[in-house]
Amino acid sequence: MIIPLHMSQSFLIDNPRARVALPSLAALFALFVLSGCDGSSGSSDSSLTAGPGADDQPIAEAPAFNTASGFVVVREPGPRLPVEATVEYTDADFDAGLPAIVLQVPDGFDTTTNLPPNFDNLQNVSVMAGELVEVVYRPVDPEGELPGMFPEELLQGSSFDDNFDGTKTFRWRPLQMDVGINAFTVTALDPANDSYRASQTIFIKVELPDDPSTIPNVAPMLDEFRPHTVRVNDPVVIELKGIDLNGDTPILEIPDLPVGGSFNQHPRFAEIYVLKFVPTTTGTLTIDVVARDSIDSALTAEESISISVLAASAFTTTGQPLRALAEVRDLRIGFAALQSFYHRPDGAIYADIAEREFNFVTPENSMKMDQINPEPGRFQFAATDNLVSFAQSADMTVHGHPIIWYRQLPNWIEQAPLTQVEQHMSEYISRLMSRYKDDVTVWDVINEPLADNGSLRDSIWHKAMGESYIDKAFAQARAVAPDAQLLINEFDISMEGPKATALFALIDRMQANDIPLDGIGFQMHFFTSFDQFTELEANFAKVAERDLDIYITELDVSLAQGATLAQQASVYERVVSLCLAQPRCKAIQTWGLTDQYSFRSIFDPLLFNRSYQAKPAYTAVQGVLADTTQ
Ligand code: XIL
Repeated sequence: MIIPLHMSQSFLIDNPRARVALPSLAALFALFVLSGCDGSSGSSDSSLTAGPGADDQPIAEAPAFNTASGFVVVREPGPRLPVEATVEYTDADFDAGLPAIVLQVPDGFDTTTNLPPNFDNLQNVSVMAGELVEVVYRPVDPEGELPGMFPEELLQGSSFDDNFDGTKTFRWRPLQMDVGINAFTVTALDPANDSYRASQTIFIKVELPDDPSTIPNVAPMLDEFRPHTVRVNDPVVIELKGIDLNGDTPILEIPDLPVGGSFNQHPRFAEIYVLKFVPTTTGTLTIDVVARDSIDSALTAEESISISVLAASAFTTTGQPLRALAEVRDLRIGFAALQSFYHRPDGAIYADIAEREFNFVTPENSMKMDQINPEPGRFQFAATDNLVSFAQSADMTVHGHPIIWYRQLPNWIEQAPLTQVEQHMSEYISRLMSRYKDDVTVWDVINEPLADNGSLRDSIWHKAMGESYIDKAFAQARAVAPDAQLLINEFDISMEGPKATALFALIDRMQANDIPLDGIGFQMHFFTSFDQFTELEANFAKVAERDLDIYITELDVSLAQGATLAQQASVYERVVSLCLAQPRCKAIQTWGLTDQYSFRSIFDPLLFNRSYQAKPAYTAVQGVLADTTQ
């Protein structure tokens, strides 16, 4: 379960690419038709899992819960989807004793002359909910120095206190919510090289006492609310979540509801309440919230949340919007849409800027398999349906992402017998694509098939079918959506290297076998230090030579330490120029809209900052698109 991680070997070595004889496209196609996977939705008797049924169809959501205007928002039906048990550790793990230490070893470091740090006298502990656990950590360096240490993550309500004698004490009073096996990990740093590290996990088993009333009832808390910027006169929704470590559901109250506002408990999640109101004046708005214990109403927590309300003029840009400029250049320009942006406080300005600037959109997360099909026979389409409705209202085309990927998979598929994975894949492709085939014009059929060393990535799909999973997925995708553009989407293919080499070999092999591939998605999660533009241009040319289209699918430029917004703008500018210079480059999409919600938010990588102001990168992209001499 715990694998020693050596930095020099931080990726798993995949199996060398299997060289198997592959059936022709026609044979694959016949196979799908024969096996009934013709793109129709619903389940048939021969399906391994049930297809979407009436109880999976989204229902209308009341406007009090979202900021949407111009498109209809639906939500998942009925009560909360039963979440798959996410038991990470079991009694068997606990009983197996203290887990092995996990080492991180810097490249070239000699571990024979310098032994790794370790911890003295640790063991797993067992405790009743409500009791205090104390564990003293004494790091030891075999070479006799004193190692530093830090906890990987604190358990809720715990502390890791310095005893000022080289030791630290972990203190925790677990409550009802913590019953089960919990893990706490501390990493020690070797005094000679702080990249040489040893991480030790201990398991803490928490059980319910015979008399649970002995457990102290603690005050509830409010989940953290981060600052947001909104536009005056836009609707604002604020989802507030109460937490009670005793496992009860707190009651939330707003003593001074903003004029005209509403405050309702969420229809599916009892611990969430939604405030909706329209701020009519600019400035910083502060709203007090009370979380009240549902057992003892005298136990409360009070918090103030604040949002910054700016005038409409603060969000305007000069010059033509990107989509108007891109249309003239016969280019699509798009972004990855934050899942359920219409449930965020700033959902209205988010939607407005997106509609103004972009004509192409990818769902950032809602189309991933763990979202769409979290349990066998259960489907969640609401978030993607809403994205499609938004795209239609904003006259954008939708880029489906991803169909088959090795990450963000539901547990059930990861645990499925390998002999069944091929049929699960086929059922999934059929159900997902048939629902959206009239709405989606471009699909990332296979996402990230290659490992860093250029071998095929060791996914469940590859384990079950070898390289043929790629061909099978593409053949089926073409059968379901004959007019859609079908892509492989990959990262680290913008420069020379084993991945680019492997990509071109894969394309050549697919084309020799008549596999219906239409284009390549270049992800481009760059840093400002990226400068391999000549290699990027050459790789674009190699894709074009193979008669394929190029899509820049996930562009963002993270600010490296000390880098300037001007440097960021310059990387954006050069990427857009190279796309414009290459006739097969059809689209540029940034991976997100605003730094506020970027998956690399700490590096502020996007065109709009956290308060939706256009950055120099925006102006640079606008400038290149407008310059028709390029
Ligand atoms: C990312 C999303 O942006 C995150 O919100 C999510 O937690 C993880 O996935 N390559 C891809 C995208 O193909 O799907 C990934 O999106 C980013 C990397």
